[in-house]
Amino acid sequence: MKHRVVLITGASGGIGLATARALAGPDTQLFLAGRRPERLNAAAAALQAVPLLADLSDAADVAHMVEAVRRKAGHLDVLVNCAGQLEVGPAEQLGVAVAEQLIRVNYLGAIRVVHACLPLLRMGEQPVIVNVSSFAGRVAPPFMAAYAASKFALNGYSHALRQELRPEGIHVGLVLPGPVDTPMVHGRLGGVHYPVPRGVPTLSAERVARAILAVITQRSPEVIVPWRLRAVGRLASAYPGLVDRLYARFQSAPIPPAARGSE
Ligand SMILES: NC(=O)c1ccc[n+]([C@@H]2O[C@H](COP(=O)([O-])OP(=O)(O)OC[C@H]3O[C@@H](n4cnc5c(N)ncnc54)[C@H](OP(=O)(O)O)[C@@H]3O)[C@@H](O)[C@H]2O)c1
Repeated sequence: MKHRVVLITGASGGIGLATARALAGPDTQLFLAGRRPERLNAAAAALQAVPLLADLSDAADVAHMVEAVRRKAGHLDVLVNCAGQLEVGPAEQLGVAVAEQLIRVNYLGAIRVVHACLPLLRMGEQPVIVNVSSFAGRVAPPFMAAYAASKFALNGYSHALRQELRPEGIHVGLVLPGPVDTPMVHGRLGGVHYPVPRGVPTLSAERVARAILAVITQRSPEVIVPWRLRAVGRLASAYPGLVDRLYARFQSAPIPPAARGSE
């Protein structure tokens, strides 16, 4: 890439950090956002980047974060919206509180960052926004209702925004990864509430970072990783009941009353 100013949220670990490593270099001015200061500062020091502490569910934090980019760089070329949270469990048990929390971070947090960054992106060169969604935002697995809903929302927003911003030359791309080996899924992946059908691989964060790079350089509207899940996505859209069967064997018994929530 030519000299670029890049802001990555969720850069204190996992996919965001892998993306920061993939984009770092003499031609890139990197801004890394996250909430945990130790991890963020260590990552920023290693990559000669600027750390920006911000909770994306807080409007003032986001405003400060974007203002810091404006003061130091004056514009923005690439925004990678990677921050996100996951909760798994029966939808009824997770309740409204968890649904609200995930919408607040995964959806509203992402769009808050986009809207705050748009004035800087308009001053950038061939600007790109990459929203890191999830394959669960295309095919919703059981026990991920709140998470899937937040990612479906992000997908809908991104597809609409891409068309709205095309006349201005700002590209909006989506990345939809399957399971990725990061702290987000540790202790959950393959468990009773995170069933992984046979044949679905667990990706490395570096593999997803390469997909994010592809969206930036090729200005793709959407990339599903791994590639083999694309066919599943198409099948699920055409025949929703077919994919249910893949997961059905994980649901041999009804949810016990003790696991049911009150909301
Ligand atoms: N891992 C997977 O299997 C998988 C699959 C598909 C999609 N994804 C998506 O990929 C993205 C990155 O996830 P990951 O797997 O790399 O998880 P991760 O290692 O847990 O990283 C999540 C990142 O999001 C940040 N974050 C969480 N809540 C935040 C908030 N309220 N404000 C600001 N930052 C916040 C975290 O910052 P702090 O830790 O500093 O708070 C951290 O940097 C997420 O959007 C996730 O939904 C992950």
